[in-house]
Amino acid sequence: MTATTIIEGSTVLAVPENRSLRGPGTRGGDVFFNEQMAFNRDVGVMLLRAVGHAGMTVCDAMTATGARAARIANEVPGTRVTANDINPAAMPYIEANIELNRLADCRAVNRNMHSLLSEESYDYVDIDPFGSPVPFIQSAIRGCRRQGILAITATDTAPLAGAHAAKCRRRYRSEPVRGHLCHEGGLRILMCTVAGELAKADRGMKPLLSFYADHYFRTYVQVTEGAAAADRTLDRLGYMSYDAATLERSFSRTCDGTHGLGPFWMGPLHDRGAVARMAADGMAAERRCAKTLDIWNEELDEAFHYDLSELSSHLKLSPPKLGELIDALREHGRASRTHVSPTAFKTDLTAAEVKSVYASVSPGSVRRG
Ligand SMILES: C[S@@+](CC[C@H](N)C(=O)[O-])C[C@H]1O[C@@H](n2cnc3c(N)ncnc32)[C@H](O)[C@@H]1O
Repeated sequence: MTATTIIEGSTVLAVPENRSLRGPGTRGGDVFFNEQMAFNRDVGVMLLRAVGHAGMTVCDAMTATGARAARIANEVPGTRVTANDINPAAMPYIEANIELNRLADCRAVNRNMHSLLSEESYDYVDIDPFGSPVPFIQSAIRGCRRQGILAITATDTAPLAGAHAAKCRRRYRSEPVRGHLCHEGGLRILMCTVAGELAKADRGMKPLLSFYADHYFRTYVQVTEGAAAADRTLDRLGYMSYDAATLERSFSRTCDGTHGLGPFWMGPLHDRGAVARMAADGMAAERRCAKTLDIWNEELDEAFHYDLSELSSHLKLSPPKLGELIDALREHGRASRTHVSPTAFKTDLTAAEVKSVYASVSPGSVRRG
């Protein structure tokens, strides 16, 4: 291996010299590592510190260099970590990372995650494949202990966000939404898929934290047990219609002639208690983590946001500052920022009410060039 060392959070990492510094990363070198995913790994550390327990068993089932596994073992006290990857070339990196950080409770494993997770089970199972997680979700569920946590990444944003709708239909059995709602739609399709896979095993889920960032979707869910829990989870799935002429969105439990988008997970993205306990101190991307935590703490549970550009082009009125609009909306109902976009907001007001408040705070007509 041709390795170099970097520091991420408070962990020393041996990583390939030839690695991705930004974007989705490539399979270019022998072993994958993307420095930009430091924020993603930070979030895992913050969440496990908030919801983990002493002796928690963790399986980073597709670990590549072992970066995430080493960070958890080093930065989340009391965890017992398995760092697994099918690629034999990953093993020297994982072993170096265990040694560099003197990790007594972290072991390197070189197996196919499907066979590993059919033999062993863990309190936390993380899957972070190239592209879609769909082929790996059932194995992750099988290897997840009662009331354990599943952490799932999807980097196939083109299908999930509607750019390759046919692929989304095939892979996720869902009709994606295009336009400014596409990223929240993609996240909710991923969550719907996890819910559907859990239900097959008479299990349900409680989302702890789910987000879209950079080029990927990520969801952390706590598994709930039993057929009734599975049914309650399936009750949170639904379809949507979006009327571009009025900006009205409406939702339905069933797919009918009007409600043809989805199915989506329609429940909350986050667990308020878990997010409130997360802290950014010492993280690699500390400022970004702190700013994002502020938004996650504030973000309403309402499904599907509004966007300033959507309202601006619909009403032909220049957008106000987002903060001013949110303050004005709060005089009539609830409103918040959303992590999905810096120009979007969530509210429990109707589209007609949103348009009226927007018009009252807009600086005026959109000028045409
Ligand atoms: C995107 S990389 C993981 C990145 C890593 N989680 C990180 O934070 O740097 C995906 C990894 O999954 C591994 N992989 C693919 N199929 C696998 C399987 N069936 N079992 C175990 N690992 C697998 C690949 O070898 C690759 O290292």
